[in-house]
Amino acid sequence: MAERLLRVLACGSVDDGKSTLIGRLLFECGAVQEDVLAELESASRRFGTVAEGLDFALLVDGLAAEREQGVTIDVAYRYFETPRRRFILADAPGHEQYTRNMATGASTAEVAVLLVDASKGVLAQTRRHAAIAALLGVREVVLAVNKMDLVGFAEAPFTAAVAEIRALLARLGGLGLTAIPLTARDGDNVVAPSARMGWYAGPTLLAALEQVTPGTVAGPARFPVQLVQRPDAGFRGYAGTVRGGPLAVGTRLAHPAAGTTACVARIVTMDGDIATAAPGQAVTLVLDREIDISRGDVLAADPPPATADRIAARVVWMDTTPLYRGRAYLMMQGTSLVIATVTEITNRLDPATLTEEPVRELALNEIGTVSFSLSRPIVCEAYAASRELGGFILIDRMSRNTVGAGMITETLAGRRAVQWHRLAVDKAARAALKGQRPAVLWFTGLSGAGKSTIANLVEKRLHAQGLHTMVLDGDNVRHGLNSDLGFSEADRVENIRRIAEVSRLFVEAGLIVLVSFISPYRAERMLARERVGPGEFIEVFVDTPIEECRRRDPKGLYARADAGQIRNFTGIDAPYEPPLHPEIRLRTLDAPAEDLAEQVVAELRRRGVVG
Ligand code: ADX
Repeated sequence: MAERLLRVLACGSVDDGKSTLIGRLLFECGAVQEDVLAELESASRRFGTVAEGLDFALLVDGLAAEREQGVTIDVAYRYFETPRRRFILADAPGHEQYTRNMATGASTAEVAVLLVDASKGVLAQTRRHAAIAALLGVREVVLAVNKMDLVGFAEAPFTAAVAEIRALLARLGGLGLTAIPLTARDGDNVVAPSARMGWYAGPTLLAALEQVTPGTVAGPARFPVQLVQRPDAGFRGYAGTVRGGPLAVGTRLAHPAAGTTACVARIVTMDGDIATAAPGQAVTLVLDREIDISRGDVLAADPPPATADRIAARVVWMDTTPLYRGRAYLMMQGTSLVIATVTEITNRLDPATLTEEPVRELALNEIGTVSFSLSRPIVCEAYAASRELGGFILIDRMSRNTVGAGMITETLAGRRAVQWHRLAVDKAARAALKGQRPAVLWFTGLSGAGKSTIANLVEKRLHAQGLHTMVLDGDNVRHGLNSDLGFSEADRVENIRRIAEVSRLFVEAGLIVLVSFISPYRAERMLARERVGPGEFIEVFVDTPIEECRRRDPKGLYARADAGQIRNFTGIDAPYEPPLHPEIRLRTLDAPAEDLAEQVVAELRRRGVVG
């Protein structure tokens, strides 16, 4: 039987000849078609034996959810084999807009075939792909310098490309490199050695792929459970592929998520029981006692992974809306799903120059170091130690799209060093003294919609009833607490995040808080809602069409924005995301402000916030 399966990622810039190369490779190896791969896979699931290497890593699993929503992920997986080895080749598209797909392919690959067009040399996208592959844990690169015919089969362009990539890989952490000059179209050095490049004495592409030993991380064993075999198979077994380090009978495994442990009693393979399983080997484990384990759980040998609620990670951003400091995302890591708030973007890696610079946001296809604060602790470790526990994806909380992939670089246990102080006098006590129920009335809408006008009238009415209130108004707060912030998306996210925190404090003080900010993003309004108790957040959508705001233009800002004097103006060249389910919707065209304020107070009465 052929040696174990090698997972290969083919990547590089568009037009460097990747399809031709893959076509050539598959053709000459008499490749098994993709539908056969699919069949193998489904068979492995049906029969309960997990064919080696046919597991799909975290990222691919996560993206599967997205696929179900009809978003195409164009990573084609192709299977082929030679008498020496079996291969799964992930074909990642070269266009910059498909960087996310490239990352998907790289998340499971052991070796990357990086294509370069000899006539064009190393391009920005080549460097980007090399960087992503390295970040995702690929330790071996086979550089295919293609289209050698276009440079007259000369050695110099080849040597130049190799030197550049060698320097790049050294800076990315010392990845292994084999370089091959070839012409995929004619088959030179793909499977058969070329007679046209006498100066080259190295292996062909296929020979290189057959020989390469993918660098494995030698660490403690990790065992992601892919399948729980029912006792009717004769025993309860857990099928999966050993990762990290070798796993022997007798090893104590922790189930960190559950806080339980058990020892390996048997390691079962299709060829019978074995004493030790090597990393990359697919086996079924039988444990010495029953513990509760489900598909997706990770069993870990000593030392166990960390439990952390703060992490730092390398993030590849994949969405047209940038990642912002202060914004919260869903993080899927291992089998955990948590809310992760961006606390810091330490720097952004420029893949072209590999220099780093501090930033406030990460745009599409950018790579940066990001710190997150998590809604609860998760079992995790550095990606360098474990792809299973160190990799995650970020999901937008509104669209549910996968927007980023991350590799943990650092885990920090304990919610900062700061403890939450338990205070003797609490929200309920403070509110009781005032004889009221605290709440946030969150007015959102375009500039000039009438938010502040109505909020003021509501406050007057509440105040007259003897209620304790506080108004937070965008224009005012921007003079003090938020005087460092402008109107970029990143600044507005931070603006609203701070106001969400301040209104939470006022609610803790037992007050009725009236917040009047454009607050254009659903994500941050959701954050504000989550900062206070159920029923305490009342979103008031001041619904005024932009034509009417422009007609009113109380501060003359629309005129200035139209004249191009103010940029990023909400509703003109900056977005406004109207609430989908506001507690109160005020159509200001239909009634005067006094009536609308009365509507709000009536609704507060109906909700029992005021008497
Ligand atoms: S928010 O978008 O970050 O919530 P905020 O409510 O604090 O905005 O401030 C909006 C007020 O700032 C507007 O009412 C207007 O007076 C003023 N302003 C100045 N520049 C802009 C701009 N580019 N877009 C919107 N409002 C602006």
